Amino acid sequence: MSATRPGRPPTAPSGPTPTPSGPTGAGRAVKVSQRAGPEPDAAPAALLTGVGVGPGEADLLTVRAVRVLREADLVVVPVMDRPGADGDAPAGRAEATVRAYVPAERLHRLPFALDDTGGVTARREAAWDAAAAAVVAAFDGGARSVAFATIGDPNVYSTFGYLAQSVRALRPTVQVRSVPGITAMQDLAARSGVPLCEGREPLTLLPATAGAALVEDALAGPGTVVVYKGWRRHPELIEALRRHGRLADAVLGRSLGLPDERIGPLDGADDDLPYLSTLLVPARRDRRGGKL
Ligand SMILES: C[S@@+](CC[C@H](N)C(=O)[O-])C[C@H]1O[C@@H](n2cnc3c(N)ncnc32)[C@H](O)[C@@H]1O
Repeated sequence: MSATRPGRPPTAPSGPTPTPSGPTGAGRAVKVSQRAGPEPDAAPAALLTGVGVGPGEADLLTVRAVRVLREADLVVVPVMDRPGADGDAPAGRAEATVRAYVPAERLHRLPFALDDTGGVTARREAAWDAAAAAVVAAFDGGARSVAFATIGDPNVYSTFGYLAQSVRALRPTVQVRSVPGITAMQDLAARSGVPLCEGREPLTLLPATAGAALVEDALAGPGTVVVYKGWRRHPELIEALRRHGRLADAVLGRSLGLPDERIGPLDGADDDLPYLSTLLVPARRDRRGGKL
């Protein structure tokens, strides 16, 4: 993997970081966070940045995401470590999105067990270890800034967290940052015209893989429910929605931002969903501002 770009100044991906404050146990407000990392003119020698690239369209990235991708010495993208059984797995989605901004010679594919199930499997661990070793090798080869492009947001059900942990385990001096991305949940809300939450409504995001009980709990509550990773569990989800009287309002977003995108109610013909499908169940609302 060639990663060095001699003569380029190192870059700091993050702009000014807010310094949120919150109550302590003693009721005193304290500053809980300063800028995470050094100032821009003291960029770290090795920086790994998870960059959220949105659900799939090349114009749904933040300005900062584009800047970090363009300035990185190397941009790595996750791909499937073997062909998916159904061909629908998301291999290459992040790659396709960033191609508009990053020339092929700065893109590097890293295989991950994206379709594996059953927890921390040997296949997953092997992929994380190999990917981390490749990133460390890039730093050893002279790269100062490596960006990992991931669909949606890097802190929402993303492989980035596992990669970052693995890289830090190998090389604790590597600094890790992230650039937020637009999630599939937000994109579906925007495209379907459904506000995610209003007034006192809770918003629950969960993967269907969390199990039927958690999905049922969320559907029994008063707020909006968003379900990721529901493709193989779609028939169970439909039954749960029916039991809770929430089937009619539910919106399904398939392949958001991709050529085969479909957004609409659950019409019963959805047995064969792509992996990139998101279910949005709006809070029950009976009047304007009713939850204020
Ligand atoms: C591993 S999670 C990645 C979530 C992503 N990091 C985010 O912030 O949206 C994969 C799930 O995200 C949802 N998803 C991501 N991209 C999508 C898209 N383009 N269309 C529909 N759903 C999508 C699907 O529910 C999919 O099963």
